[in-house]
Amino acid sequence: MRYSGTVLVAGATGRTGQWVVKRLKHYGFDYRLFVRSGEKAVEKFGPEVIDRLTLGSIEHGSEIDAALKNADAVICAVGGSVMDPEAPPPSMIDRDGVIRIASRSKRCGIKRFILVSSLSVTKPDHPLNQYGKVLTMKLEGENEVRRLYGENGFGYTILRPGGLVDGGEPLQHEMVFDTGDRIETGTINRSDVAEAAVEALWVPEAHRLTFELIQGKAAPQESFEKYFRLIAENSGKRV
Ligand SMILES: NC(=O)c1ccc[n+]([C@@H]2O[C@H](COP(=O)([O-])OP(=O)(O)OC[C@H]3O[C@@H](n4cnc5c(N)ncnc54)[C@H](OP(=O)(O)O)[C@@H]3O)[C@@H](O)[C@H]2O)c1
Repeated sequence: MRYSGTVLVAGATGRTGQWVVKRLKHYGFDYRLFVRSGEKAVEKFGPEVIDRLTLGSIEHGSEIDAALKNADAVICAVGGSVMDPEAPPPSMIDRDGVIRIASRSKRCGIKRFILVSSLSVTKPDHPLNQYGKVLTMKLEGENEVRRLYGENGFGYTILRPGGLVDGGEPLQHEMVFDTGDRIETGTINRSDVAEAAVEALWVPEAHRLTFELIQGKAAPQESFEKYFRLIAENSGKRV
């Protein structure tokens, strides 16, 4: 077994979160789900997940604490709905919510925190940032994850994918992994983001790493481990 802990997936009913759950199941890892809607979770994953669910929002600390019980790692694929004027703004979800779940995870002694963020978070003038400064909010969330989980004995991985698409099964494309937020544009299947997030649990080079990822040409892959190794070797882990 490549990873033997229990992984809490925050945002498990989201489009990337669902793939994270599928990949955890694929590798036979133990998992829990932190979701806003139990109905949606059962619709997506079936009644067998009922015992693994905690209902709540990353806006509420006590609900997060309940979800974190017995978890050894967190994969956070939460994202606010930037286009929905009724939804809480990115400052509440992508910054404060992420900071809340990361700091409570650390306080609970959870050793690994894996966050799905976004390409271009370091570019305040990027057109996407006009929506509630979503990129800047994500960067501020990331910064706190790096601070908290950069301490000895803990580890983080922050994934910054390009535009997310739904193209089916993972591991069907070559990957471009980079650091330093230098990739201008690109897309990637949500299933591959999930695969990379799950592999980060066991690949040593993924620990304490912030990296960008987009897909390259179609070509079946065994795993993404070689891409993690390449950026660790080549880049000196730029943020
Ligand atoms: N769209 C893109 O092209 C793109 C590009 C790069 C990065 N990203 C980022 O990648 C991540 C995953 O994207 P996605 O498209 O898979 O997202 P998605 O389908 O919109 O899913 C977002 C998830 O966040 C959950 N969520 C929202 N507010 C929450 C709260 N207050 N408490 C707990 N959970 C909450 C949602 O819950 P419900 O299921 O209950 O709605 C949903 O499960 C996001 O952070 C997104 O910003 C997106």
